[in-house]
Amino acid sequence: MQGMRALLFISRKKEHFTMTRRPLILLFAITLLACFIVAQPALAADGAATYKAKCAACHGPEGQGKVGPALKGTSLSADQIADFLTKGDDAKKAPHKKPMSGLSADDAKAVADYVKGLK
Ligand code: HEC
Repeated sequence: MQGMRALLFISRKKEHFTMTRRPLILLFAITLLACFIVAQPALAADGAATYKAKCAACHGPEGQGKVGPALKGTSLSADQIADFLTKGDDAKKAPHKKPMSGLSADDAKAVADYVKGLK
């Protein structure tokens, strides 16, 4: 009987713990979710806008290729593309012999991710 009481006491304490913490945990989860929702389109738009402004003329609006080769389905990784854009490659033809002008490292990463997402 004594043991029963102790058990009841413990379970009641536990209940109290979860009841008081739950709103805080919920608030934290909602804040985290809100951050993701806000940040995601901003990141995607960035790469898309850079692609439209600086790449589409040569590689086609859908990455299907034009003056430059098709980029959709490229075997290069996003990191390789970003690297290629920020450093240039002497073995490649213009404009990629030199680093792309006006392209920050963040822009390069965003546009590389965008290129990898082209289908
Ligand atoms: C003035 C035209 C032009 C512009 C602007 C341009 N490219 Fe290119 N791109 C080319 C040409 C031409 C090649 C082929 C170079 C070669 O093979 O020597 C190429 C090659 C590439 C390759 C290598 C493809 C492969 O499979 O080897 C990638 C990746 C690439 N471009 C990405 C981009 C991105 C991203 C942008 C925008 C930031 C961009 N390019 C802007 C003309 C352009």
